Amino acid sequence: MIKVQGVGFSYPGLESPVLQDINLEIRPGEFLALLGRNGSGKSTLTKLLNGLLIPSTGEVVVDGLNTRDDKNLSRIRQRVGLLFSNPDNQLVAGIVEEDVAFGPENLGLSANEIRDRVSWALSVVGMLDYRKHPPHLLSGGQKQRVAIAGILALKPRYMVLDEPTSMLDPQGRDEVLRTLIDLNREQGTTIVLVTHFVEEATTADRVMVLDQGKLVMTGSPLEVLTRTGDLHTWGLQAPEIVLLCQELRTLGHNLPPVLEGEQVVKMIRTLMGG
Ligand SMILES: Nc1ncnc2c1ncn2[C@@H]1O[C@H](COP(=O)(O)OP(=O)(O)OP(=O)(O)O)[C@@H](O)[C@H]1O
Ligand SMILES: [Mg+2]
Repeated sequence: MIKVQGVGFSYPGLESPVLQDINLEIRPGEFLALLGRNGSGKSTLTKLLNGLLIPSTGEVVVDGLNTRDDKNLSRIRQRVGLLFSNPDNQLVAGIVEEDVAFGPENLGLSANEIRDRVSWALSVVGMLDYRKHPPHLLSGGQKQRVAIAGILALKPRYMVLDEPTSMLDPQGRDEVLRTLIDLNREQGTTIVLVTHFVEEATTADRVMVLDQGKLVMTGSPLEVLTRTGDLHTWGLQAPEIVLLCQELRTLGHNLPPVLEGEQVVKMIRTLMGG
């Protein structure tokens, strides 16, 4: 479990804190979506989770290891994999499989173990067929999946992804999101997905909203994403499907809150008399 307890953070030279009194627990196996507008402190929070930044106040503790203690950092970073938005900044080698092998090589594993991990990680993200390709010839979504494989090959318990789809087109976004959902369900990897695409939060176990450095809401996707007014206040827009249901409600149709297209289609069919 990752415990964030009373965490505040200020960048040197900045007067006001960027994060204030953050308390959260990231439980093994869960898929947590973290939403927030530009500048709300999302990236700062992700960097605190693996000790890339140390809190100004409060503690971040990963499976009992406090990020304040320097001698814990290498173990913490092995447990908490961090992925950023731009895959071009994360791919270092000239061939896909070399890129994925880069991390495990630094762990000092045997050649056999490295080979097994690289093949496994590439197959999990559906990129094994591309193992001999140069990364720069791949699409954005494919590159990001290779970058995910690079982290997977380190076998982290937690994977924190900071807007991994923000540079991708809808197809690439879909590929990456699908990969993360499968990883979570099939490999049991804990996922913390930072995004400002509210739709990406609909399949999460839990959604959190960060606004002006504070956690302003935590709940199930249904609880959080149907609060159209609050989301608007926090600089976010509710998913289209929620807005559609709201419109239908203002027209006098009595619809329960839902997030899934299929359910909405069923309800509309019923409204239309089958
Ligand atoms: N290295 C830094 N030095 C000083 N201030 C910083 C630094 N990095 C971020 N900030 C400031 O901290 C605040 C939060 O930034 P952060 O990058 O954590 O937000 P974010 O939610 O990730 O934003 P975005 O959606 O744009 O990625 C912003 O006001 C930003 O200007
Ligand atoms: Mg950010």
